[in-house]
Amino acid sequence: MSSEHQQAVQEQFTRTAEAFAKFATRDTPADLAQRIEFAELRPDDTVLDVACGPAAFLLAVAPRVRFVRGVDLTPEMLRQARTLQAERGITNAAFDLGEAEKLPYADGSFDLVSCQFAFHHMLRPDAALAEMRRVMKPAGRLFLVDSVGPEDKAAAARHNHIEQLRDPSHTLTLSLSGFRGMFSARKLRIEKQVVLDRPRSFNKWMLRAGHDRSDASYKEVRRLLEESIADDRAGFGVSIDGDDLRIVHQEGMFLLGRGIEIEAGQ
Ligand SMILES: C[S@@+](CC[C@H](N)C(=O)[O-])C[C@H]1O[C@@H](n2cnc3c(N)ncnc32)[C@H](O)[C@@H]1O
Repeated sequence: MSSEHQQAVQEQFTRTAEAFAKFATRDTPADLAQRIEFAELRPDDTVLDVACGPAAFLLAVAPRVRFVRGVDLTPEMLRQARTLQAERGITNAAFDLGEAEKLPYADGSFDLVSCQFAFHHMLRPDAALAEMRRVMKPAGRLFLVDSVGPEDKAAAARHNHIEQLRDPSHTLTLSLSGFRGMFSARKLRIEKQVVLDRPRSFNKWMLRAGHDRSDASYKEVRRLLEESIADDRAGFGVSIDGDDLRIVHQEGMFLLGRGIEIEAGQ
């Protein structure tokens, strides 16, 4: 990964680590339960969560499996994760500093390898996916959750522009066909797939990225979203909600297994 981009990610998530943990509205008990059920955890599983952030998911998973491990690029996020771990008295979890594109683990180490809401911060999500596949056991599963962007090119460009204004470490929200193409290129078979509408408060979404109403970025992102209401040209399904806006992210959940290996020469 380019060190410039790595720095942008670390700056963003060091600055916002507390706000992120506080306003992570997508980690309600119901959302976590839904993801846990989808991931089909087994009591003997050893789980790796890549780009784990403050580890809301991983620490909810820990009591149901043998061991969980989180890896993230941002030390401050790992500090939040360890604090939460201590508060909950969880003993079967560990956290490491590391890059998704170069995971510090041996081949075939984990039963379940997950990554949530982080591919859209990476320059090479396909490289992270290859690493996740490498460290997964031969019969292991890969669990991926991320926002899904519009298929239409112009809408996708507007969508990503808005995301980047809000958070400079945003790279690209992949479309569903983008995700599926990447899985197939990495020889991963889709066992289960679901795409859900996730309505959220614009104000909280901005606070989570460290912006309040007085920021220039807040004003510009809000202007662009309001401009998109009539024709949904940026794919956020915006509507007015009092002095807030209601926006809708599409969220994709995928459970993947190893696909058939194609031998060289075949
Ligand atoms: C939006 S947060 C998501 C955190 C967590 N997965 C969650 O769902 O709450 C993105 C996280 O990805 C981490 N991250 C981004 N790019 C990364 C990379 N290439 N390798 C490791 N971590 C990365 C950031 O440090 C940050 O903690």
